[in-house]
Amino acid sequence: MKIAILSSEAVPFAKTGGLADVAGSLPKALSELGCEVKLFLPKYSYIDESKFGLRYNWSVGEMLIRISGHLRSVHLLQTTLNSSNVEVNFIDCPHYFHRGLIYTNDHDEDERFILFSKGVIEALQRLKWAPDVIHCNDWQTGLVPLFIKDNYNWDRMFDHTASLFTIHNIGYQGRFSKSTLLSAEIRSNLFYPGGPVEFEDTVSFIKTGIFFSDMINTVSKTYASEILTPEYGAGLHSVLSKRKDDLFGILNGVDYTTWNPATDKHLPFRYSKENLLGKHKNKKFLLEHFGIPFNENVPLIGIVSRMVNQKGFDIFAGALQDLMQLDAQWVILGSGEDRYEEMFRHISHILPDKVSTYIGFNNELSHLIEAASDIFLMPSRYEPCGLNQIYSMKYGTVPVVRKTGGLADTVQDWDELNYHGYETGNGFSFNDYTSYALFLTVQRAVNAFHHKDAWKKIQLNGMNRDYSWRNSAKEYISLYEKAIKKRR
Ligand code: ADP
Ligand code: GLC
Repeated sequence: MKIAILSSEAVPFAKTGGLADVAGSLPKALSELGCEVKLFLPKYSYIDESKFGLRYNWSVGEMLIRISGHLRSVHLLQTTLNSSNVEVNFIDCPHYFHRGLIYTNDHDEDERFILFSKGVIEALQRLKWAPDVIHCNDWQTGLVPLFIKDNYNWDRMFDHTASLFTIHNIGYQGRFSKSTLLSAEIRSNLFYPGGPVEFEDTVSFIKTGIFFSDMINTVSKTYASEILTPEYGAGLHSVLSKRKDDLFGILNGVDYTTWNPATDKHLPFRYSKENLLGKHKNKKFLLEHFGIPFNENVPLIGIVSRMVNQKGFDIFAGALQDLMQLDAQWVILGSGEDRYEEMFRHISHILPDKVSTYIGFNNELSHLIEAASDIFLMPSRYEPCGLNQIYSMKYGTVPVVRKTGGLADTVQDWDELNYHGYETGNGFSFNDYTSYALFLTVQRAVNAFHHKDAWKKIQLNGMNRDYSWRNSAKEYISLYEKAIKKRR
């Protein structure tokens, strides 16, 4: 089966969040199961060509792509995804992608991803490689299913190419003014109230993806049913309901060659479930690094997150005073909205022995926090899948989460009232999106930390879980088969 996977970010080349982890690891798992996979990414200026061995594909040559009336010069660069058979293709167009950031607030953000989408299709034409499935991810690639079925349908090459649209986060929709129709050369008769590309008088990339793709999925079973409701659908629940028979939930897998405490190259001390000594050493190392006094009897709570509303920082703020009364220490890594960055800076400033905050993006530190923490907090308002709770489990770090989306599908609440040694709970979770529920659950975890036998059991229950890609990649293959069947 030939699969083209399109993403705006992928590890190790460009990352802002979990999409990059998925796009950098699913292709390898598919390839190991026998698929021929090509991954497509924009060539952002900071992707180091020599470090990653990128080469120009001279046989593809210069592609001239018209966006908003201008012909843009586009080239294809290629490499392989570390130690795999996956070919990575970069759409190189300096005008749009030499901006220092993956996502911008620039006036032509729509054009950047129209160019990427058309660049992929034209590169496929020149490579004479017709995929069985084009797998699109998030709004940035939402126009591709339409382009295949309309703008490029003159090319018989794509007659049998099916499309899958994966929604990693329905909160980000890619909505632009009507002028986008001209930039993308979308037929204007597709834009009318309630029509396939229109949403509240804007051109919606995500809605277009939902409408024109052969199959749709999201990244956990619970989130797939949540987005059919007004509470979680971000306005698109009725659009999705019309396609609910084609909507599936496939839990993200994780790449245990990168996220494994026994081999993690970012850790000063490695460890495994057989011997957790290295975990304690990492905790001491991290706390000393941040100037927080180490005490093995005080639990360390870690947070690594984009600091945005989705992640539950408003209820965290509401519980802040009570949380800071708990006998626990905190290490926080993230960046995002000013008000949340300011909140964390402020508490670190007034409680320097208790809280340390690093504002910014730091991959190495994210691994160290996973390894060093006793508890990992993710109080998300919604969470399509969430990867950090899955990494936490592998690192013997107990997740405390709100029971939503992928968090509900992976974290099973520990029942401390019925502890007999064989319980399967691997973390702590709460239902109500309130500061009070959040506080009580963190408090439960902090209390449980002092019951060493029970705590060890919770850690091992998490460490014994297997969230490698193998199972989820097989689910993707059967969904690709469904998409192909539908297209033909
Ligand atoms: P989302 O994609 O919504 O941000 P996920 O839990 O799926 O949430 O994935 C987040 C990914 O981004 C994880 O790999 C996490 O470690 C990483 N991450 C988030 N914030 C930072 C940061 N400030 N520095 C380093 N890595 C980060
Ligand atoms: C999104 C979601 C997150 C998910 C990730 C990868 O960014 O917010 O829950 O894990 O995509 O699918």
